[in-house]
Amino acid sequence: MNIVLFGPPGAGKGTQAKELSEFYTIPHISTGDILRENVKNETELGSKAKEYMDKGELVPDEVLIGIIKNRLVEPDCENGYILDGYPRTVNQADALEDILNKLEKPLEVVLNIEVPEEELITRLSGRRICSNCGANYHLKFSPPEKDGICDVCGGKLYQRDDDKEEVIKQRLDTYNNQTAPLIDYYKRKDILVNIDGTGNVEDVFEEIRGVLDNL
Ligand code: AP5
Ligand code: ZN
Repeated sequence: MNIVLFGPPGAGKGTQAKELSEFYTIPHISTGDILRENVKNETELGSKAKEYMDKGELVPDEVLIGIIKNRLVEPDCENGYILDGYPRTVNQADALEDILNKLEKPLEVVLNIEVPEEELITRLSGRRICSNCGANYHLKFSPPEKDGICDVCGGKLYQRDDDKEEVIKQRLDTYNNQTAPLIDYYKRKDILVNIDGTGNVEDVFEEIRGVLDNL
């Protein structure tokens, strides 16, 4: 199964990708997670990427294309992949097509998760993440049992630097200007399917599963 999960910041790409990855046993490839891991480990790539991420801007295409090219040849992509957060520009999408053609693993579907902007802001500003195991919470929609503590491992919860209000607005602008044009790009290729992202996590998962099981 070769899938792109597409949508604006906060649409629920990461949440759904995690579930889908477990359900279909294919790897979840999140460029945001890969970049954040590099920031955490203070790699050269991480320090370069952080400047853009903290401002809600896109990290340059050549960096991302390099990351994806290396990741898709890993053995765990043998039976498919779920891309989350890539591609984000037409340039990245063209490069992806090239890479996938060479690997003979063409994209089967681009799932476009649609959520109104107001709801995106609520989701992003309430998101909290476990500093130990990475589990995802929301202060209102999926709060932890104990304030600030992960239910899974007892780790401390934190807010992503780019989930602060000023950066959220910039990320949404970046999405609208640079990434949303890919909706038409994939519509023209006839592989775009819109998903209503406004229901709860299980509802959205079931809608996606309905699409994937009929591929
Ligand atoms: P990235 O990490 O990809 O961030 P994003 O696209 O902004 O996506 P998010 O992780 O914020 O949202 P999501 O859709 O995954 O939502 P989630 O499931 O967490 O990128 C970060 C930065 O890295 C970028 O700004 C850029 O600088 C750089 N970058 C990454 N990729 C790049 C690329 N290809 N090119 C250039 N730069 C790149 O859900 C959000 C919240 O809502 C959570 O709290 C969750 O619990 C809650 N929630 C989820 N689903 C539901 C639901 N159905 N109902 C209620 N709440 C829900
Ligand atoms: Zn945890």
